[in-house]
Amino acid sequence: MMESDAPGLSLGDQREAALSRTTHHVLHAWKEFDTARERESQPSEALRRALTMPLPRQGSDVLEVIDEAVEVLDSSLAQSRPRYFAFIGSSGLEAGALADLLAHSYDTNLAVDAGAATALEWQAVGWLASFIGFPAQTGTFTSGGTISNITALASAREAAIPGARERGLGGVRPTLYCSDEAHYSITRAAEVLGIGSANVRAIAIDEQRRMRPDELRAQLRADIAEGCTPVAIVATTGTTLTGAVDPIAELADVAQEFGVWLHVDGAYGAPAAAVASQADAFAGLDRVDSVTVDCHKWMFVPKACSAVLVRDASALAKVFAHDEAYMPHAGGHYNAVDITLEYSRPLRALKLWMLFATHGADAVRDAIEGNCEQAQLLYDWVRSRPRFETLGSRPQLSIVPFRIVIDGCADPDRHNDELCTAIQRDGRVYVSPATIDGHVWLRPCFTNFRTTPDDVAMLLDVAEELGSTCASLHG
Ligand SMILES: Cc1ncc(COP(=O)(O)O)c(C=O)c1O
Repeated sequence: MMESDAPGLSLGDQREAALSRTTHHVLHAWKEFDTARERESQPSEALRRALTMPLPRQGSDVLEVIDEAVEVLDSSLAQSRPRYFAFIGSSGLEAGALADLLAHSYDTNLAVDAGAATALEWQAVGWLASFIGFPAQTGTFTSGGTISNITALASAREAAIPGARERGLGGVRPTLYCSDEAHYSITRAAEVLGIGSANVRAIAIDEQRRMRPDELRAQLRADIAEGCTPVAIVATTGTTLTGAVDPIAELADVAQEFGVWLHVDGAYGAPAAAVASQADAFAGLDRVDSVTVDCHKWMFVPKACSAVLVRDASALAKVFAHDEAYMPHAGGHYNAVDITLEYSRPLRALKLWMLFATHGADAVRDAIEGNCEQAQLLYDWVRSRPRFETLGSRPQLSIVPFRIVIDGCADPDRHNDELCTAIQRDGRVYVSPATIDGHVWLRPCFTNFRTTPDDVAMLLDVAEELGSTCASLHG
């Protein structure tokens, strides 16, 4: 590589060339993402070697560095690609990527009042709330669903046990309630908030894998009789495993009856509350105390961008605000640091703001609706093919677990696990496995606006091609 003659840490006279080279690569990537590629590209030997080089004392030509960075990215799994169906992906929305470039170039700090950027952050919170139908326009952006859940549950803890932030939990026995299939970030929140993972009550689920309100009520009664202090009920909409949407309205009745904070972990599914076909499943969202929405999941923007919306911003301030001499409080407003765990904060809100400003809410709704339709399509296709099986009930959102079952196969779980590995190695589609009721399933999730019905069909074709005989995988 050539040595750079850029002055200090500025790109100097290479600025335009660097920007135009980056633009060239980004344009190429965006065009490529429009359609799936036939194989994941693997890192070359030269690239592998380069990635073991020690710290460089001298810099290199920025154009070569950009090319190398792009080679790394292009040889990595990209969730933006239309046939990435694993976990719960994000999709690198173009307007969102541009927002990140702008936000990071200005490097605004959203800790205390940053001027117009702070107003934009509040506006984006309001837009998100009205998109999903949450009545209060208050909340804050965080780095992800895990942190949003911790943020909401910290407020719930302070509401249930006032003064806990100062005095600790003392002799109080706090408890937390969620479905048996809640995301493990709820357990992590219980751990870091001093509630204790042993005090998380995993409530039984019904045949559609939703939390059972009657079981919740019984558990609350038993715990209160034992002298426990319930901190919060966490409804999941939808679950990471199958996309089940807990019955919010019925859980809100229970929360009201016992005077307990109701949090909705909608990290994955909450955006579906905005679409016509799903609205009924989200009835009661207007009655909850807080809700987590990961914009880097089903709002399509690049990571990391989550939001926690709260009915009353003062509940966040009660647990997070400090009055340090170096933190000005302009005009009596909360600073972001008063209502979040973080101090230095990037302008994550810009990507959501640019999503809505560029495309409008209707286009976002259509994309989410499209993913829901793909899930229904896959469910029907799977049921029409004799070798495949699905869960008994239709997908509630956009996750469709399915598995291949071959006559005479001694170990279907091993077969499906190895099928997943084979599919990932093959590279035409990307899907991850999940264990449901002790059995291994392929668990595709559709959260990408680039995915088409043809991409969905390809998933099933590849699974059938690679997994239709035991011999094809493990003899
Ligand atoms: C329901 C649910 N909650 C929380 C999370 C954690 O979100 P993050 O990865 O943004 O921390 C996930 C992640 O998949 C999730 O599915």
